[in-house]
Amino acid sequence: MEIHKKFPDPILLLFVVLATSQYSCQAQNSPQDCVDAHNTTRAEVQVCPITWDENAAAFAQTLQKKLPHPILLLFVVPETSQYSCQAQSSSQDYVDAHNAARAQVGVGPIAWNETVAAFAQSYVNSRLGDCNLVHSGNKQYGENLAKGSGDFTGQAAVNLWVAEKSNYDYNSNSCVGGECLHYTQVVWNNSVRLGCARAQCNNGWWFISCNYDPPGNHFGKSPY
Ligand SMILES: *[C@@H]1O[C@H](CO)[C@@H](O)[C@H](O)[C@H]1NC(C)=O
Ligand SMILES: *[C@@H]1O[C@H](CO)[C@@H](O)[C@H](O)[C@H]1NC(C)=O
Ligand SMILES: *[C@@H]1O[C@H](CO)[C@@H](O)[C@H](O)[C@H]1NC(C)=O
Repeated sequence: MEIHKKFPDPILLLFVVLATSQYSCQAQNSPQDCVDAHNTTRAEVQVCPITWDENAAAFAQTLQKKLPHPILLLFVVPETSQYSCQAQSSSQDYVDAHNAARAQVGVGPIAWNETVAAFAQSYVNSRLGDCNLVHSGNKQYGENLAKGSGDFTGQAAVNLWVAEKSNYDYNSNSCVGGECLHYTQVVWNNSVRLGCARAQCNNGWWFISCNYDPPGNHFGKSPY
């Protein structure tokens, strides 16, 4: 049984009651065993990992003493920034946000591609030191970049690019009144494979890259 309760931000508490006989925390009692077991299950459903918290563990011990055997009570406080790391930043979130924008203008869907995603991840990782919005310079893929502080999600990044739609004039196939090339890449009909990655820079900001295969924004051509 697992009970999620939302306490006043920024503290999110996860409250877990487990029957010892069914859980590996009984067999292997170290904090790491418990955390690892949680993380494995959470990763399967793309929920962020939790960390062990000594204060919470001490509280759990106190509670456990008041409870009848054989109930084991675990009390874990995840760091909120880690908890939200996958929320709205899964591959499906990126794909859905792209395909919603594409469908709006009658363009077919784009699909996730692990090769493209691996490229995005390696490039994002290389930028964590300076967090500069500088393109990778690769010729094989199209590329949209974004960064944001706080809890900047993958979906928020795609939303930023899609918001440029208001600057795109289809009839003249040009940007009017502002940037629109991130948007045209999102809805580029021939870009059918997508890979995105998100990671936290050393300064705390989130750096996000989406790559597109084949690349869009060919000069003089319309996205659709
Ligand atoms: C679980 O997540 C925490 C927090 O990110 C990390 O410290 C720990 O190493 C993780 N364990 C596994 C098995 O991923
Ligand atoms: C993923 O994209 C690469 C090119 O970047 C391509 O060679 C590969 O066939 C694609 N994989 C799938 C499953 O479509
Ligand atoms: C979009 O691409 C598909 C093939 O992926 C093609 O059949 C279709 O004609 C294209 N649509 C436009 C408007 O270019």
